[in-house]
Amino acid sequence: MAENQQPDIVEEAAPNEEHYNGDYAIVVEGLTNRFGDQAVHENLSLKVRRGEILGIVGGSGTGKSVLMRSIIGLQIPSEGHIEVLGHSITEAEPDEQIGVRSRWGVLFQGGALFSTLTVGENVEVPLRQFYPEIGDELRHEIARYKVRLSGLPEEATSKYPSELSGGMKKRAGLARALALDPELLFLDEPTAGLDPIAASAFDRRTRELTDTLGLTVFLITHDLDTLYEICDRVAVLADGQVIAVGTIPELLATDHPWIQEYFNGPRGRAAKASRKRAKAMDKQPSGKA
Ligand SMILES: Nc1ncnc2c1ncn2[C@@H]1O[C@H](COP(=O)(O)OP(=O)(O)OP(=O)(O)O)[C@@H](O)[C@H]1O
Ligand SMILES: [Mg+2]
Repeated sequence: MAENQQPDIVEEAAPNEEHYNGDYAIVVEGLTNRFGDQAVHENLSLKVRRGEILGIVGGSGTGKSVLMRSIIGLQIPSEGHIEVLGHSITEAEPDEQIGVRSRWGVLFQGGALFSTLTVGENVEVPLRQFYPEIGDELRHEIARYKVRLSGLPEEATSKYPSELSGGMKKRAGLARALALDPELLFLDEPTAGLDPIAASAFDRRTRELTDTLGLTVFLITHDLDTLYEICDRVAVLADGQVIAVGTIPELLATDHPWIQEYFNGPRGRAAKASRKRAKAMDKQPSGKA
């Protein structure tokens, strides 16, 4: 099956024992991260609403990936408080951290698949880690299901990362991030390096999964099309802080020079025009231009 042809799936996810019902899936308050003399974040605050796709933008090196690593507990902040799905990450006891860690999935910048494992075995890694009691057959079955859910053909389950295209690797990473039926998905530059068709297919799949599985998505991206197509709101990182958060029209109403340059520069205008064209086509009764 071609990569952009997607099976009509997205069945009901297995319900989590505990499902978070609060307003904010992620709350970051007063976050400061320093590496030696370099302060990457300085008193940064951000709230991610439950059920939204929040895009995170900012110049290269502004600390987007470090922010994500802090939220998932891989980077101990110098100061600040972080809560995910109602659980404190910064003050959690190790046991509590493990519980909440099984409720999110992460696609790291660059994919980070294990090259010596097949796609299926990669998806099985978190299952083995958090649910060692699951038998081999069931675990293989879950892995095959997640591979299909990510939009890959089932045959990809037995392939090694080196046998996959860049777009397929991203989907394999997405399959692994979905392994534990997460409530929350972290995606770091998921469409970087993809051709526009593969990128747009990946975006659509992210939106579909979010809507049907009721996910919350923390999506770091430089991709203006992604921001226009699928993000409910966008947070802008600059000078160690989140300088603005809102819908794109709300951000455009601010007069911050970086935001204006970003969304109103030539690429921003092209993405906006393409979004308008797509919307106009959707409105035609036949769906054709
Ligand atoms: N473990 C670390 N030790 C020291 N410095 C680090 C570490 N991790 C990140 N940094 C520094 O923190 C800054 C922010 O890095 P980060 O990876 O979060 O940037 P980013 O916004 O994700 O950039 P990009 O868009 O290029 O991915 C950079 O200057 C980086 O060199
Ligand atoms: Mg990064």
